[in-house]
Amino acid sequence: MPTLNWLNRDAAIRLASVAPYRLLEADPKLSYGDENTPNMLIQGDNLDALKALLPYYAGQVKCVYIDPPYNTRSAFEHYDDNLEHSTWLTMMYPRLELLRDLLKEDGSIWISVDDSEAHYLKVIMDEVFGRKNFVASIIWQKKHTRSNDARWLSDNHDFILVFAKNKEGWKRNLLSRPEDSIKNYSNLDKDSRGPWASGPCHAKTPSEKTYYELVTPGGKKVLPPRGTSWRFSKEKFQELIKDNRIYFGPTGNNIPRYKRFLSEVQDGLVPTTLWLKDEVGDNQEAKQEVKSFNDQSVFSTPKPERLIYRIFSIATSREKDIVLDSFLGSATTAAVAHKMNRRYIGIEIGEHAVTHCIPRLKKVVDGEQGGISEAVNWKGGGGFRFYRLGNPIFDENGLINKNIRFKTLATHVWFTETKTPAPKVKSSPLIGTRNGTAYYLLFNGILGDKKPDGGNVLTSRILKNIPPFKGPKVIYGELTTIGHAQLKKQNITFKQIPYDVRAY
Ligand SMILES: C[S@@+](CC[C@H](N)C(=O)[O-])C[C@H]1O[C@@H](n2cnc3c(N)ncnc32)[C@H](O)[C@@H]1O
Repeated sequence: MPTLNWLNRDAAIRLASVAPYRLLEADPKLSYGDENTPNMLIQGDNLDALKALLPYYAGQVKCVYIDPPYNTRSAFEHYDDNLEHSTWLTMMYPRLELLRDLLKEDGSIWISVDDSEAHYLKVIMDEVFGRKNFVASIIWQKKHTRSNDARWLSDNHDFILVFAKNKEGWKRNLLSRPEDSIKNYSNLDKDSRGPWASGPCHAKTPSEKTYYELVTPGGKKVLPPRGTSWRFSKEKFQELIKDNRIYFGPTGNNIPRYKRFLSEVQDGLVPTTLWLKDEVGDNQEAKQEVKSFNDQSVFSTPKPERLIYRIFSIATSREKDIVLDSFLGSATTAAVAHKMNRRYIGIEIGEHAVTHCIPRLKKVVDGEQGGISEAVNWKGGGGFRFYRLGNPIFDENGLINKNIRFKTLATHVWFTETKTPAPKVKSSPLIGTRNGTAYYLLFNGILGDKKPDGGNVLTSRILKNIPPFKGPKVIYGELTTIGHAQLKKQNITFKQIPYDVRAY
């Protein structure tokens, strides 16, 4: 497959794997609302934050929306959008890889981008997600006015690139029918199948086979309009007339119309790839929305809530669906997810995580009524937890950080072994079983041995004390006193901490 080359491409490809696994440290003082909420607001570089999330959320996220810096060379107050082209690609590539690994098999990723990088992004997305998983490139009307001072053309749209993790297994939802589209349905002949709308019975591309004279129930002979032919064969037409699916007007002598019943059309509208500002808002609407959260320092590049609402309406459906935005900006994605009762994770590197995201989400929890609130009947509730990035799990020599507790290392070991998020880690050396193998960790004196490093060595006595499992066992510990032959006989693979714990 053709790939894109740029300065530092090789380094970019390694970045996701060499980024350290770091801890996420909750800050209860900056968190708000329901203490048991799974919603996360993380301040920090998203490369490290996404890596930190992997052991917990790999394959769990239903929908990713991101709005990364566009690389437009314009100065913004709240972040640096002036990245050089290769640097932009190097920034994006490893983050896209991590986002892919966090997505569910039936999940999708939606990326806002403009002309400066859209076409390069498509090529690297093809590489990371697979060309066959490309869904669409949506045009969003971000601005409706003409810039008469534009030197070349007045730029009025952005793109939203959409990829599925696995397009064959991905299903989009239909959009709800607007009230006025239902207005076209009525029941002029009191049909028992309910309201219907009618369409023409002629086809625009004429065919000799379906050009014939039709006799109406009132006895009038009619031909299809000049330059057309009927949509149906003679036999099909008679069948439809018999089934009362053709309407000839109150006297039975009008030009025939084909009846489409509301009860038979799809339960909603198939989303199109052209999103106009009247339906989903534009930049101006977004600016108005964020002003109400911080009018002293208005966030410069927000997206409108209705745009994100449209995305989540298509790409998520259940309350427990997790959505993720790793370039959170002013927290539009989190605010919309919150009001739609989706679980969310938002990551933002800038100080506006505190100065803009927190105040906005607090107001949402308190029942704020801007943006999509009225449309979704938002009344308030829920909460979010605030996190910052903590120490790496491994130091520069690959040794385990002294402050790491059992549960953190167990989650990490499980993830590196199984590439799935850890089951709820209990205070037991048995982390869990998967595909017929049990995974154990002896660390931090998990067996209750109070001596320094007690219980971290796999001895025959310890082996008798750990929860039993019939089948292969992988056991992590600092050392083992059991010989190689005995381990083999008991179907045990022993892995030594820290050397066999994968830091990357
Ligand atoms: C275009 S803005 C997103 C705006 C957002 N969609 C909204 O509606 O407010 C991009 C954001 O990404 C953040 N960002 C840039 N690089 C980042 C990184 N490495 N990690 C986390 N956030 C980053 C910037 O600080 C900025 O707030």
